Amino acid sequence: MARPTLGPRAGSRARLKVGVLISGRGSNLQALIEAAADPAYPAEIVLVISNRPEAPGLVRAAGAGIANLSLAQPSREIFAAEADAALRQKGVELVALAGFMRILDTGFVEAWRDRLVNIHPSLLPAFPGLHPQRQALAAGVRFSGCTVHFVRAQIDSGPIIAQAVVPVDPQDDEARLSERILAAEHRLYPMAVRLYAEGRLSIAGERVAISGAVPPEIAVFNPLEALASAGG
Ligand code: GRF
Repeated sequence: MARPTLGPRAGSRARLKVGVLISGRGSNLQALIEAAADPAYPAEIVLVISNRPEAPGLVRAAGAGIANLSLAQPSREIFAAEADAALRQKGVELVALAGFMRILDTGFVEAWRDRLVNIHPSLLPAFPGLHPQRQALAAGVRFSGCTVHFVRAQIDSGPIIAQAVVPVDPQDDEARLSERILAAEHRLYPMAVRLYAEGRLSIAGERVAISGAVPPEIAVFNPLEALASAGG
């Protein structure tokens, strides 16, 4: 039996309307803004919401002429209700969490089920939660990376859309590894949103299937100078 595909409404030729939730720097938001600057990209960002008024990402949104909203609401339920109302008012079809550091109300997560995605800087299900790059270094893994996934109620869980692999260099500290993973994030997130917007994703048994050719960028290898010069 055919699985229902997710994403654009059947017959719709308009670009998919995306709302982005942030808490801080907003470099992933910037990557999405830059991708959407191409009129051929199948999604556009119509609203940015931050739970922190001082988030630099709000300035990026304003600079790109994107509607933006600060919701410094201490109550998780009221934040969710206000965010939900603003997203619906803008006709948002997909919500992308991009460095959104607050746990979302489970009612919100359910209301946006399969229309809510997140990016996390590890190869999930390894190293969910805070400081995943620090966790990866402590575990001594040879590879880490980043994951874009549909959001479920449990933190950093849900069907995986795409992952990029980043090798760990023995010389890495948390900052250095984070920087290289972040560079992979900036490629992976726009690609995953594109797959969604093109209606190429479906979920069966909590696993994501991608129709058509899978872009090679789904595994982004960033060979290190040091490893290359060592012949490894
Ligand atoms: C990224 O590493 C993202 O994966 C994580 O938080 C960080 C946000 O960075 N969830 P930015 O705000 O997008 O620059």
